[in-house]
Formats: sequence, structure tokens, C-alpha cells
Amino acid sequence: MKTHRINFTLNGEKVSIEVEPSDVLLDTLRGRLGIKSPKVGCDRGDCGTCTVLMNGRTIRSCLALAVEADGADLVTLEGANTRKWTQKLQVKFHEKNSFQCGFCAPGVILSATELLEKNSKPTIHDIKEAVAGNLCRCTGYEPIIEAIAETAKGK
Ligand code: FES
Ligand code: FES
Repeated sequence: MKTHRINFTLNGEKVSIEVEPSDVLLDTLRGRLGIKSPKVGCDRGDCGTCTVLMNGRTIRSCLALAVEADGADLVTLEGANTRKWTQKLQVKFHEKNSFQCGFCAPGVILSATELLEKNSKPTIHDIKEAVAGNLCRCTGYEPIIEAIAETAKGK
């Protein structure tokens, strides 16, 4: 199959890579670029463990083709630490012990980052909506939602 060279920014670094038209972005990130925070969960767009930021918006990388990243600014949890809200969220999640196995954590943190970058005074409803696509089978969501709310309030 004919390959395409794509160029994009990944966590602030320029990347240039040959991909096949059918290559999935999640597999390219994990398998070829060594980026392991986006996880392989359902592999069909339901669980949110593969969440990454593309041009500041969360996407499910299991549903995106690698060619769609051409020209984009991609950020995964590995590179999100320079973002103000990501740092604050991580501190709060740690303080509150919000996760158990942590499998959902990268996706939740990026979804919460996107929310707080757009709306620094979210309601509980806004928070629930923002993380609705990130399934967590351990926590029942309460400690996650509380941590996001407290981060927004600067508590
Ligand atoms: S692995 Fe992408 S949404 Fe589940
Ligand atoms: S902490 Fe285990 S899936 Fe969320």
C-alpha cells in the first residue's frame, strides 16, 4: 500500500513519519512513537482511554487515522504537564486519591483539561458532561468529579 509522509507537532516536538492510509492514530502513537499514555481500551470509540488533544480538543485516537494528524498540534498526557490546568488537576487527583487502577486517568485528565481551558468555572453538570465519555470501572466517578470541581475552585 502507498504510504504518506505526515508532519505534525507531538508534545511540542516536530514529527515527520511515513504512514499507510489505514494506520490508526492510536497505534501509530503507541507502537511507532513510544507514546503510552493513550491506552487501548474498547478500540471502538466507547471508553475514552485513548483520548488525546488535537488542536486543543479531545479526540479518541482509536477512531482517528494517522493521516488526520497531518499538520495538527497533538498533545498527550506525556506533554500536557506544561498546561496550567493539567498540572493543577494532577496534584488534586493525587491529593484526593481519585483513581484506583489509573487506566482511565490519562483520558480523564485530558478531558478535564479541555473543560477547564474553555470554562474555568464549570458547574457539576458541566464536569459530568466533560468526562461522560471517559469510562471508569473502579471509582464510581465521585472522587473524579469532586477533584475537578475543587481544582476549578482553587481549593
Ligand atoms: S480505546 Fe478509544 S474509545 Fe476506547
Ligand atoms: S481508576 Fe480504574 S478505570 Fe478508572
